[in-house]
Amino acid sequence: MEVKARAPGKIILAGEHAVVHGSTAVAAAIDLYTYVTLRFPLPSAESNDRLTLQLKDISLEFSWSLARIKEAIPYDSSTLCRSTPASCSEETLKSIAVLVEEQSLPKEKMWLSSGISTFLWLYTRIIGFNPATVVINSELPYGSGLGSSAALCVALTAALLASSISDKTRGNGWSSLDETNLELLNKWAFEGEKIIHGKPSGIDNTVSAYGNMIKFCSGEITRLQSYMPLRMLITNTRVGRNTKALVSGVSQRAVRHPDAMKSVFNAVDSISKELAAIIQSKDETSVTEKEERIKELMEMNQGLLLSMGVSHSSIEAVILTTVKHKLVSKLTGAGGGGCVLTLLPTGTVVDKVVEELESSGFQCFTALIGGNGAQI
Ligand code: PMV
Repeated sequence: MEVKARAPGKIILAGEHAVVHGSTAVAAAIDLYTYVTLRFPLPSAESNDRLTLQLKDISLEFSWSLARIKEAIPYDSSTLCRSTPASCSEETLKSIAVLVEEQSLPKEKMWLSSGISTFLWLYTRIIGFNPATVVINSELPYGSGLGSSAALCVALTAALLASSISDKTRGNGWSSLDETNLELLNKWAFEGEKIIHGKPSGIDNTVSAYGNMIKFCSGEITRLQSYMPLRMLITNTRVGRNTKALVSGVSQRAVRHPDAMKSVFNAVDSISKELAAIIQSKDETSVTEKEERIKELMEMNQGLLLSMGVSHSSIEAVILTTVKHKLVSKLTGAGGGGCVLTLLPTGTVVDKVVEELESSGFQCFTALIGGNGAQI
């Protein structure tokens, strides 16, 4: 049997980092996906005692005998908790880390280890110690602020949950999950994100699971309906960074300057709420006027992200280049490099600015904003 799932990446339009501290954020899915294929061997097949993970984009393969996994992981299939998502305990995580270490990851690929741990946790907790080959490939650049880790957690969980959904329910082509499975999927994916990021807000996995555009605050999800065209240029600075370290840096700053940072987070909260209201408003305000207001909100949000300490010289370079073309930009995701969003008001011709950004070594692309969520 073969099961396929896909989940999109995302952009955060407003509110990253502050969302970890209880502020509102607004995020949208983009049409770049991570794909997960589960292949279950026939009982008679040679590989029916192994779990194999293939990362197609980086041509890496990891494989464990099921006997070794059972020996290392301190739970058995009878304690499966498919319908009650649970956190991975410190003890279990340590045992899983040993299984990952045994795979001798190349030094320059050590950053993959938390993702592989997440894979082993989600796989064994949702479908137990069953043999399979799991193939992952992604259109998302890794670690660039477009939610690649969340898309991986969501697509993997969707495939695992779908393996127990009958073919009839799945139908032909890509189909979305029903509300109950979506909620379950999102909760599991959040547990996976915790292994990768430590203290995620949950916005990345939520927008990847549900798709479209969402307003998110302390786990409360509001699905947004946009009543205006929203075009963004996405520029990848190609500067790698670590979300966990950046999130922790902001938290440490909040401990050192609680009052000042509280004001910063409150200001971000207001920006996100106003942005959501503009996007959703059906009133008479012209699109141009709405775009002007969004521009100012993005500019203010970027200023506040700078004050949280998560901007970067590469991000500032992109901002300065786009300002020359009278365009406004802000970082998206964790910052410290990664991707930058530039609002493209109606009628904007991007050729010149893209040419200038790309000649500085950045990578530009436009993506469809607010598309599908997880599908099987
Ligand atoms: O996944 P990234 O790197 O795009 O950033 C996640 C967004 C943060 O707000 C920085 C963290 C979070 O968990 O919300």
